[in-house]
Amino acid sequence: MTASVPFVYFDHNATTPVCSEVLEALPQLAQSWGNPSSIHWGGRQPKNILRDARKAVAAAIGASPLEIIFTSGGSEANNAIIKGVFESTKTRNHFMCSSVEHPSVMKTMLHLRELGALVDIIPVNRLGQIDLEFYKARLTEKTALVSVMLANNETGTIFPIHEMAELAHQKGALFHTDAVQAFGKIPLNLKELNVDFASFSAHKFYSVKGTGFIYSRKGSQFVPLIHGGGQERHRRGGTENVLGIGCLGVAAQKIGQVGERARVLGEMRDQMEKRILSEISEVTITAGESPRIANTSSLVLKGVDGETMLMALDLKGYAVSTGAACSSGNPEPSPVLLAMGLTRAEAQNSLRISLGWETTSEQIDGFIEALKVVVQRLRSLQSEEGENDHV
Ligand SMILES: Cc1ncc(COP(=O)(O)O)c(C=O)c1O
Repeated sequence: MTASVPFVYFDHNATTPVCSEVLEALPQLAQSWGNPSSIHWGGRQPKNILRDARKAVAAAIGASPLEIIFTSGGSEANNAIIKGVFESTKTRNHFMCSSVEHPSVMKTMLHLRELGALVDIIPVNRLGQIDLEFYKARLTEKTALVSVMLANNETGTIFPIHEMAELAHQKGALFHTDAVQAFGKIPLNLKELNVDFASFSAHKFYSVKGTGFIYSRKGSQFVPLIHGGGQERHRRGGTENVLGIGCLGVAAQKIGQVGERARVLGEMRDQMEKRILSEISEVTITAGESPRIANTSSLVLKGVDGETMLMALDLKGYAVSTGAACSSGNPEPSPVLLAMGLTRAEAQNSLRISLGWETTSEQIDGFIEALKVVVQRLRSLQSEEGENDHV
């Protein structure tokens, strides 16, 4: 890459850069190397770090500090909640999740099916909207847990979690939401959301990788995934990642200003989509008409291979994605887009752009120009190939 190429990061749903507040706090936090479980002086400072982070996180999501359990990230949180409910329910053997969940929910649910649970996958339509009729019809007194994400990582669609949790509770079922992509993007109040469990991941909200947390509503039974010492009030064994949790707490404090940031980001995203639709032919926005988190845009650019587009944009300095980061390098089209009813070709022609707090309108302008060039070149190459095929 030449020095003149800008490094523009539009893949914030994969991970976010570490924010300046966290970078500033890091050296001081790293001094607290003691074990937070130690009774002596060495444990005091790390214990305080955990306490402050727990308070900050609880305040940011409208919960009580005792309702927070620190984990190694979103995948562990999802596994712990779902497997924990499976282990603790004696009379209920039915589980549900949407067809567009992150693999850490979907694969855990499929694992439960192998272990004998009845698992229903709730369909989602082309607009990214969940089939509520299917959901209502399948919910029964045998349903143990429903797990539906708050916001989708690929299209940004927001699901009606409050309404769905209410319906689950009417049948005596528990409700979990994977809030990994929602935290920091929409204002959150877990009490109002009415869920029993929620999952979060620090590296999606401008902190470091390897930490996350669970919201476990007061009074809900919680069976640990990791048995060990008495950490996290016996809900998650293992010496806490004090440095990571301290950073997570600092980033969570910043999340307070979500409203204004989301409004600005939403305007930039909408403006970007408008220009792309008017300046590039045969483009559609997946779930563009549905409620979405403000930073995400999932495009289908007809006839242009997503992976090729991604690589061409990378050469120009723009980091975007074709779907979930964990499946990049995998030639299979995104299971989420297929589950929404996009054809294989449409899913293969998809590009995900996810903006962040540091995104500027100049970066967006530069990106649109780069995208125009890339799409035009790839389409003309394709039509040349098509002509040659007939020779
Ligand atoms: C919706 C969603 N849930 C869970 C995860 C997993 O989080 P982590 O990377 O912390 O394990 C991700 C990460 O991509 C995600 O987007």
